[in-house]
Amino acid sequence: MLDQLQALQAQALAELGAVTNRAELDAWDSQYIGKKGQLTQMLRNMGSLSKEERPIFGKAANDVKTVLEAAYAEREKLISDQELAHDLEAGAVDITLPGRPKPTGGLHPSTRTLRRLFEIWGDMGFQVYQSRDIETDDMNFTLLNIPPHHPARDMQDTFYTTTPNVILRTHTSAGQIRAMRELGGNGTKPLRVVLPGMCYRFEQITVRSEVQFHQMEGIAIGKNIHMSDLKGTITEFARRFFSPTAKLRFRSSYFPFTEPSMEIDVECFLCGGEGCRVCKHSGWLEIAGSGMIHPVVLRNGGYDPNEWSGFAFGMGPERMTLLKHGISDIRYFWANDQRFLEQF
Ligand code: PHE
Repeated sequence: MLDQLQALQAQALAELGAVTNRAELDAWDSQYIGKKGQLTQMLRNMGSLSKEERPIFGKAANDVKTVLEAAYAEREKLISDQELAHDLEAGAVDITLPGRPKPTGGLHPSTRTLRRLFEIWGDMGFQVYQSRDIETDDMNFTLLNIPPHHPARDMQDTFYTTTPNVILRTHTSAGQIRAMRELGGNGTKPLRVVLPGMCYRFEQITVRSEVQFHQMEGIAIGKNIHMSDLKGTITEFARRFFSPTAKLRFRSSYFPFTEPSMEIDVECFLCGGEGCRVCKHSGWLEIAGSGMIHPVVLRNGGYDPNEWSGFAFGMGPERMTLLKHGISDIRYFWANDQRFLEQF
């Protein structure tokens, strides 16, 4: 029996020396020292030995067990180290590889235009006044000299709400009276503000017009403000926004809240004034409505029109963005097509 033990130990150690991975190690474990292993088996068979032989064999078997367990532990450590080294190598980060850029969001082209507008008008002394999208009929129409049933209301098909006299503003001019009343000190202070915001019109969507769009209103009120101030201010603005050589055209027009009124065109950049699809072959594109603030409106805002005068304009940032970037369709702005938005 003792010889058998020695032979078992020798064989087990030899085989362990050839073990190179965890599966082989596990197999070795169950073959020799596991619950059903050969050594355990031999210990179980001790009963067949004589009283005197038993303790001798028991001690020898335990010695073998100790030797094998120690050898197992050593091999196990070796294999663990190899596994760790292998994992580290396989998972190693190659710091020389180029990084994967994270896609970042961008600003909407209209936001960019609005920010540029704030910059330019800010430099020219205009403060930003945020008026509201949901307006009263009074602010949007009546106080701007557009009484009920005035035909000018037809020019601006309105989104009505279920609350009587509460509508979505059809133009940023709706904020004119609010700005005058809030900042004008009861008609005692000059005013220079721009009012940006969304406007809403219930009308046919085309390449040139959407049911919602931005406008930016501008108002200047003071003493001795004339039409020439309006023209000079807008011309200076266009030079800064479009180009130092931008050409402007002022066309007489009609708005109930300004008198006289003009529409402002800029030479079409797409065709350089030659005439193209976007400018309807006229060579000019309208960017703003404007005029000298009507005395009735000044009075509604708290100013005495005998003492004060002012000009107002309303420009369309989307129109201007179209022009600046040669975009041929206004519907791209709110279609949320990333291919369009990512270009800016
Ligand atoms: N509110 C006008 C429009 O939406 C534009 C405008 C603003 C005209 C201010 C004159 C003065 O068409």
